[in-house]
Amino acid sequence: MLNNKKLVIAIDGFSSCGKSTFAKAIASKLGYIYIDSGAMYRAITLYCIQKNLISEQGIDADKLKLLLHEINIGFIYNPHSQTYETWLNGTSVEEAIRGIEVSNQVSAVSQIKEVRQKLVALQQEMGKTGGIVMDGRDIGTVVFPQADIKLFMTASSDVRAKRRYDELLEKQVSVSLNEIKENIEKRDHLDQTREESPLRKAEDAVLLDNSFMTPTEQMDWFMDLIHPKN
Ligand code: DC
Repeated sequence: MLNNKKLVIAIDGFSSCGKSTFAKAIASKLGYIYIDSGAMYRAITLYCIQKNLISEQGIDADKLKLLLHEINIGFIYNPHSQTYETWLNGTSVEEAIRGIEVSNQVSAVSQIKEVRQKLVALQQEMGKTGGIVMDGRDIGTVVFPQADIKLFMTASSDVRAKRRYDELLEKQVSVSLNEIKENIEKRDHLDQTREESPLRKAEDAVLLDNSFMTPTEQMDWFMDLIHPKN
């Protein structure tokens, strides 16, 4: 399937099931660019927090819509960490967008139609020349419906909560396992039931449940998928 064509690979699925780790590994193996579309929704959420657009009454969507034109999001390579970092209006926000405050608000922000329109257009521009692995919720359904390869990833919510917990522990962020599980289940629900581009498996996406798979097993599975042995 590979030949020399630079593929568009779309990876969708539930929160914290290892999409970005897997997508990064695939991009590095194939020499492709990796784009974390969730980071873009997180960056807009951080912007809302910075501008006090979120209160107990919810998000001031009208004000956000008026300000959308002044939000610039991009990915810039950091030679020290050797990774691409998310930038928002001239500042690296890679750390700030991963905190629990952004996690708790991001589903609500990502339901706003105009937010999605802006980010989908940007994502399509980034994928124009192929050679890209993008992960998110609507990549195979809305952003790249013609993607060459579509994966839909899932894992049990217990496994996902534990993975996220270990990740945060490593970064010395203190939250309880229960709090994380609740956040994940709430986001699953909001992502699947929202009106705008709900999370769903594209008909032609291949399902991958990685609850009990190691990263090496996943990569072997993927390489078999794109280079079938027979
Ligand atoms: O992948 P993540 O958990 O960092 O994504 C954060 C949130 O952004 C997630 O709750 C849903 C939303 N999202 C989305 O609506 N569409 C995408 N393509 C990617 C993420």
